[in-house]
Parts: sequence; C-alpha cells; structure tokens
Amino acid sequence: MGSSSQNLVLPEGAGNLIRTLINERTGMFFDNGKSDLLIDKLSPLVIERGFSSYLDYYYLLKYDASAHTEWQNVMNALSVQETYFWREFDQVRALVGTLVPQWHARNPGSTLRIWCSACATGEEPLTIAMALNEAGWFDKARIEIFASDGSSKAIERAVRGVYRERAFRSLPARLRERYFEPAEVGWRVRSDIHSRVTWAVANVIDEEQIRPLASAHFIFCRNVFIYFSESAISRVLRSFARFIRAPGCLFVGAAESLIRLTTDFTLTEIDDAFVYVKHERTV
Ligand SMILES: C[S@@+](CC[C@H](N)C(=O)[O-])C[C@H]1O[C@@H](n2cnc3c(N)ncnc32)[C@H](O)[C@@H]1O
Repeated sequence: MGSSSQNLVLPEGAGNLIRTLINERTGMFFDNGKSDLLIDKLSPLVIERGFSSYLDYYYLLKYDASAHTEWQNVMNALSVQETYFWREFDQVRALVGTLVPQWHARNPGSTLRIWCSACATGEEPLTIAMALNEAGWFDKARIEIFASDGSSKAIERAVRGVYRERAFRSLPARLRERYFEPAEVGWRVRSDIHSRVTWAVANVIDEEQIRPLASAHFIFCRNVFIYFSESAISRVLRSFARFIRAPGCLFVGAAESLIRLTTDFTLTEIDDAFVYVKHERTV
C-alpha cells in the first residue's frame, strides 16, 4: 500500500464492503489480487474528506444523500483513460465503409446516431468523426455523434480537444497534419471535427443517465468491460439492448467477449471486424 494509506484504518471486512459497493455503482471490479490497489487509489479521497477510517468513507458513499460529487471523485480516481486515435480501427472501417452506407440506403433522409459510451478523453469519437469526414459522409447524411464517459476529468479533457504525442501513435501522419494544429502543449483537433461530437458525463451502470444517449443506431463500448464484473457487464448489456435502435450494432474491444453474457446481441463479422448486432423483433 502507498504511504498515504498507511495512517488510515481499514477495519476487517471494510475492504470487501467498499469493493462490492463500487462494483454495484460503477461496474468496475477489483478482484482479490487488486484490493490493495483499490484501497490505495481511494486513500487521497478518504483523507480529503477528513476521515481516518475507510469505513466512514464507505458510509458516506453508501448512505449520504449528497454523495453524488463524491462518486464523481471515485470515478475520476479509478478511471483508466488509456486510449488513442485510430485504436482498433477495423471496426471503424467497417462502420464507415459498410454499416453507414447500408443504414443510409435503408433510411434515406433520416438522422443516424452514434454513441461512444466510454470515450475517455475523446480519441475514439474523434476517430469516428475524422473517418466519416474522410469518406464524405457529413456532406451526404445527417449524422450525430454523442460521446460520454463516467469520469468528469476525462470529459473536461475531451472538451478541451488538445492531445499529446501518445495519442497519435496509430494515426496516419497525413491525417494528423490535416486535422490538428499545434497548441501551447500538444496538438488541437480542428474545430469543425471537434464540434461534430456532443460531450457528456454519464455512468453506463445508471439507466437514467444513459437512456437519452443510448437510443442510438451504433453504440461503442470498447475497452471498458475488461474492468467490469460479469454481472455488471450483463446489466449494461440489458440496458443497451433495451435502448438501442434496432437493428443496431454494438462494438466492444478486441479483448472483450460477450458470447456467454447476452442473447440479445448476435456476434457478426463485417469486413474483418467483429460487431454485436441487435436485430428487430420478428414477433
Ligand atoms: C480504457 S478507457 C477506453 C476508452 C475508449 N473506449 C477506447 O477503447 O480507447 C476506459 C474508460 O471507461 C470509463 N469507465 C469506466 N467505468 C465507467 C462507467 N461505469 N461508466 C462510464 N464510463 C466508465 C473510464 O472512465 C475510462 O475513461
């Protein structure tokens, strides 16, 4: 454990209570091997609130009606915001090259909606916006891109739209030159691309928060479920299945398999990319 947590009291059983509560409210799960990490990450928050015991902090999170802001601090402290432009691009290629054209042919004149449900600092929805722009889709169709994350800090950075070198590790150089300009520290994304995305803070575990966003035709939820328990993943999948506009597609990360966890979505291969499809009910 880190030095800051050494002066805090962790009564027996409190670690389990905290990790179960965090799993219930955020989906994130810290198994036995990672309990110390969880306790360590929370220690600055416990100290900040003036508590000497994790149990007091647990009671605050569980029972205090004003704990909303504290939950935001928890989300910010636990959130792993690893992401970059053009990550797992096969799925975006399938979206732009096949799925959007198919959707547009079936629904001419309608507005297509895409939602990135855990966009971290924004590289994923901006990748989609750049790829759609490259293919000329913004001139041909009405497309809305919504992007949210549970971490308010991540969304603050996404709204700023300024990125450091690490974010560009997979983006082709010519696109970096086309879509970014040098900023004080790093590179700023072009405003016409940035303004294609509507940003929000939303917790995917909370149905009320995601309801307005999730009624999309395409939902991205990539590299989030790796941090979740199976029961939390199933909960989120049920919400997605309820709200997605069928026939709709769900994109998850390459390391994430939903096969044992849902019967609402069918795994399909499109242009070398794996996509989960929710079909319209036939009865
Ligand atoms: C590793 S990043 C993935 C970013 C992007 N989707 C990608 O694939 O590059 C995981 C993100 O999931 C977010 N996250 C974790 N739990 C969440 C929840 N319950 N609701 C919304 N976002 C959550 C974290 O804040 C973090 O920004």
